[in-house]
Amino acid sequence: MKITITGTGYVGLVTGVCLSDVGHQITCYDIDQEKIDLLNSGQSPIYEPGLDELIQKNIQKGRLQFTSNVKEAYSGADCIFIAVGTPPNEDGSANLTYIENAAIEIAEHMTKDCIVVTKSTVPVGTNEHIGMIIQERLPVNLKVRIVSNPEFLREGSAIHDTFHGDRIVIGSDNQEAGKRIEEIYSPFKLPVVHTDLRSAEMIKYASNSFLALKISFINEIANLCEKVGGNIEQVARGVGLDKRIGNKFLQAGIGFGGSCFPKDINALNHLANEYDYDFKILKSVIDVNRLQKERLFHKAKEIFESLAGRKITILGLTFKPNTDDIRDAASLKLIQDLLLEDAVITVYDPVGMSKVEKLFGDKIQYAASAEDALAGSEAAFILTEWGEIKTLSLETFKSYMEKPILFDGRNCFTLEDAEKHGIHYYSIGRKPIV
Ligand code: UDX
Repeated sequence: MKITITGTGYVGLVTGVCLSDVGHQITCYDIDQEKIDLLNSGQSPIYEPGLDELIQKNIQKGRLQFTSNVKEAYSGADCIFIAVGTPPNEDGSANLTYIENAAIEIAEHMTKDCIVVTKSTVPVGTNEHIGMIIQERLPVNLKVRIVSNPEFLREGSAIHDTFHGDRIVIGSDNQEAGKRIEEIYSPFKLPVVHTDLRSAEMIKYASNSFLALKISFINEIANLCEKVGGNIEQVARGVGLDKRIGNKFLQAGIGFGGSCFPKDINALNHLANEYDYDFKILKSVIDVNRLQKERLFHKAKEIFESLAGRKITILGLTFKPNTDDIRDAASLKLIQDLLLEDAVITVYDPVGMSKVEKLFGDKIQYAASAEDALAGSEAAFILTEWGEIKTLSLETFKSYMEKPILFDGRNCFTLEDAEKHGIHYYSIGRKPIV
C-alpha cells in the first residue's frame, strides 16, 4: 500500500514518521522546498523530542521519503492523509484554503482508486465538502472514499502520544474504507472508534473543548481559593481522585495557550453561531482564559505602585514546556502589558527565545540563563514550568534578585519553601507569602 501524507507540520510529520516506523511505505509531501530539503537531510523543521532520530532511522530503512513534487506524491497512492493547517480567520472560523487546495491537487494527480483521510482539525461537514471537491474533478474511471481521522497528539510528547494514544477515531460513510484505515493503524494496537464522518469531526472539537473547560474550571476554583482560603493543589488532588472527574488537566495556572485549544474552541464557537446555537459554556471558557492570562500582571500592578522603569524578569516563554511553540503563549500578552507600563524586561527560555526575539526585537532583553535574567531584578514571573526552571533553588532567586518578589504562574514551588527563603511569593490559588 502506498501511503502519502500531505503537509509536514506537527500532525503530518509525526504521523508519517510513526507510520513508517511500524513498517509502512510513507511519502511525505509538502510544497515548502526548504522544509523538504531539511527533512531529506534527516532533520526535523519542528522541535519535538526524539523526532530527528526517528526520521533518520526510517529514511535509512528506505520506508520514509520526502518530496515537494506533486506527481511523485500522488501518483500510485492508495491512501492520502491530509494534514495541512487550518489556521484561524479573523472572525475565529477555520480557514480551509489549504485543505481545499490539497483536495484539488489530489483530484488532479491521483492515478488509482484512493482513500483520502483528513487528519487536520476541520469544522463539522468539511469532509463532505472535501469529497465533493475531489469528486467534481475526478476522471470518471477513478473512485475516491473519504475518511475523517482526527489527531489527538500533544506537542512535546507527540511521538509517545501517537504510539500510546487513548483511541483512534475513524469516521466514514463507507465501511470498507474505514476498515482499511483501521488496518493501517493495527500495529499500534490501540482502541478504534468507528463513527460517521460528522461525528468524527465533532469528537475532535468536543475533546479539545472539554479539556480546555477543565483548565478554565480549575482556574476559576483557584481564583476563588485565593479569596476564600484553601489551597488549589490540595483541592485539585481531592477532586481529581474521583474517577468520574479524573486527575488530568486540573493544573491551575495562567491559562491555556498553544496552536490547538484557542483555535479549536473559537472555531467551534463560530460553528455554533453559524447554526444559531448559543454555546454558553464555551464562551465562558474563552473569557475565563483571557482573564487568567492577565491575572499575574494585575497582581503585580497592585503591589508596585508603578511598574515604569522597574526591572522585571520573565522565566519561560513557550506555551508549555518541551516545545519551542509560542503561539497564544501567556508570555506574549504579559510582555505587551509590561511594555505599555514602561517596565524594563529581561526574558529567558531554554528554547523559545528566538521566536520571541522575532516579535519584540530590542524592546526587551534576552538573557543566556535564568540566573542572568534574574540578576538585579525587582520582580520575576514564571510562565512555563520547564524542568530547569522549576528545579531552580529559591536561594537563586534570593541571591540574584534585587528584591525577591516572585509571581509564579505554574505553582512550581511550595509555600513552605517560599516562606523558609523569605521570598515574597504570589502563585495561583494559594495564599500569598508576603
Ligand atoms: C492539545 C491537546 O492536548 C491534544 O490532544 C490536541 O491534539 C492538541 O491540543 P497541546 O496544545 O500540545 O495539545 O498542549 P497540552 O499539553 O494539551 O496543553 C495545552 C495548554 O493547556 C498549555 O498551555 C498548558 O500549559 C495548559 N494546561 C494543560 C494547563 O494550564 N493545565 C493543565 O492541567 C493542562
